[in-house]
Amino acid sequence: MSYAPEMPDLPDHVNALIVTSSGTAGHRVFVGRLHPEQLGDGEVTIRVAWSSVNYKDGLATLPDGKVAGIDPLVPGVDLSGEVVADDTAQSAPGDHVIAHAHGLGVSHHGGFAEYARVPAEWVVPLPEGLSLRDSMVLGTAGFTAALSVHLLEERGLAAGDGPVLVTGATGGVGSTAVDMLAGRGYEVVAATGKPQAHDFLRRLGASDIVDRADVVGDDSKPLGKQRWAAAVDCVGGAMLAGVIRSMRVGAAVAASGNTGGMRLETSVAPFILRGVALLGVDSVHCPRDLRLRVWQRLASDLRPRHLEELIGNEIDGLGDDLIAALKTVVAGEMTGRAVVRIGA
Ligand SMILES: NC(=O)c1ccc[n+]([C@@H]2O[C@H](COP(=O)([O-])OP(=O)(O)OC[C@H]3O[C@@H](n4cnc5c(N)ncnc54)[C@H](OP(=O)(O)O)[C@@H]3O)[C@@H](O)[C@H]2O)c1
Repeated sequence: MSYAPEMPDLPDHVNALIVTSSGTAGHRVFVGRLHPEQLGDGEVTIRVAWSSVNYKDGLATLPDGKVAGIDPLVPGVDLSGEVVADDTAQSAPGDHVIAHAHGLGVSHHGGFAEYARVPAEWVVPLPEGLSLRDSMVLGTAGFTAALSVHLLEERGLAAGDGPVLVTGATGGVGSTAVDMLAGRGYEVVAATGKPQAHDFLRRLGASDIVDRADVVGDDSKPLGKQRWAAAVDCVGGAMLAGVIRSMRVGAAVAASGNTGGMRLETSVAPFILRGVALLGVDSVHCPRDLRLRVWQRLASDLRPRHLEELIGNEIDGLGDDLIAALKTVVAGEMTGRAVVRIGA
């Protein structure tokens, strides 16, 4: 006889933001209902309190976004909430948890729903010192910024080494990186394309601000002036190529994103003549022990000092405001983080 885990008490239907591409209506993004059994496989059922808006969520709602792995899909690459049931007994009903990464909001229904069901492996206990809301002000973007800083520091970076560049500085990864680096005593230089956000970046702790074009620099030369002791880049493309050309001898770039493009055109010169290192930052496949360690750091020494100020948009529920924020993030127009109150 096969063992069937008991279904926890759930409502008859779960409200969710749903993306569909098939059917006569074609591509649609709408608030609809799922039966609890449609939430997907997993041992842990969570009543979602908060989620957040990340660049990947915006892509998941586009017909050509190349992110959605199932159809229909509930997007939302991160969530925090309360455990309703856990078939593994790793957590208990009522426990406060975070879930993000793996296939969440991509190939498995994500955080833009009243309930989620996920594999136990994906669940992170909420670290002491963070509320459920705090954890989604940080969300995937804050985790990625923290993982970037963690990898740079593991390689030896320390405050006092010189200017650390953060690109895409007003976005989710960028703004949280500026705040956490400045809080740890680094000299932070923020690169942005939004002149109206300079005051915001200075309040987070940036000591200098440069324009995007200045970072890209002259791409006809294999090397530029040595400027950066380290860099946190979430933009990629021509910006990342410019960053690599301008790194100091022995310095490292932590690269996580592609808002400025997927292609990276560079030469070997920075690597073989300056010993520059390019560190890939992958929050999705990050091993569990490292993931837990980085969340602990987010609740302690990497906790941004301006968590409330990082919130550019606090969205109530799964309706039009959330859909508008998803459009804003893919347009590159988001400043700070957008948190989504779902069941809190
Ligand atoms: N590797 C991972 O595990 C991981 C995890 C999370 C996110 N990411 C990636 O990191 C990137 C940022 O994510 P996010 O959620 O922080 O997005 P976001 O909030 O939209 O921030 C991206 C920022 O990039 C800058 N930007 C946008 N379009 C640009 C362009 N065409 N050229 C140059 N700069 C541009 C903008 O900052 P300014 O206006 O200030 O320049 C924008 O605010 C995305 O590519 C995302 O997929 C990767």
